[in-house]
Amino acid sequence: MSFKEKLNSTQMPQHIAIIMDGNGRWAREKGEMRVFGHQNGVSAVREALEGAVEIGLKYLTLYAFSTENWNRPEFEVNALMELLVNSLNEELPTFQKNNIRVNCIGRTSDLPVHCQATLQDTIDQTKDNLGCTLTLALSYGSRQEILEATKAIALKVKNNQLAIEDIHEDTISQHLYTHDMPDPDLLIRTSGEERISNYMLWQIAYAELFFLPIMWPEFSREHLFECIYYFQNRERRFGKTSEQL
Ligand code: FPP
Repeated sequence: MSFKEKLNSTQMPQHIAIIMDGNGRWAREKGEMRVFGHQNGVSAVREALEGAVEIGLKYLTLYAFSTENWNRPEFEVNALMELLVNSLNEELPTFQKNNIRVNCIGRTSDLPVHCQATLQDTIDQTKDNLGCTLTLALSYGSRQEILEATKAIALKVKNNQLAIEDIHEDTISQHLYTHDMPDPDLLIRTSGEERISNYMLWQIAYAELFFLPIMWPEFSREHLFECIYYFQNRERRFGKTSEQL
């Protein structure tokens, strides 16, 4: 029986976040350039997205480019930007066919202008799709996100638009890039590294974490289903005891 067949449809996660790691190592192991790994990483993105659509997942969020990734060699940064533009253009008919809404989080004003234009065009063209929301984290850093939220909240307090007593956890959530989506209930990282790398630090407070010992280009929808299967078999206590559940 496949993992997909074993899934319990009443306990599906709403939001899965993925750290797509290991493209470079996968390529180097094959004696290829790192960019070859990113190119093959696009097929794994397609796998993850098709798997998400198959099970009716509402939110899939992919860490495609971090604020720290700008420090990579210019050649690799440019290749990643072109890959993003080409993938968005090529996949647009698939997004429409599968009712996928594209969204982004991060400081996207840092991206090259033509990338911003393609991204905005894809977001606009898919905005009425109500199936899965595919969010791309681009020039994303969670500390930066929390810093920006803090400044926005502080400004509201300064301008007497918000009282300090009215700042709650929700207030912070509402000022993050992710204000219009639920927190992830499941986070997957490939490549065997067991780190969060500045990804959705606030939002993953109660997420179940899965670290897979495969490189991102090797990721298939079966891996997604396997993680969901184990997610459904973990006891999520949210601070309570087993007996209270
Ligand atoms: C991490 O692997 C991967 C990235 C920084 C980029 C991910 C990009 C893609 C999968 C392709 C484009 C994405 C979309 C959404 C179309 P790494 O380079 O850090 O690998 P390493 O740890 O082995 O060096």
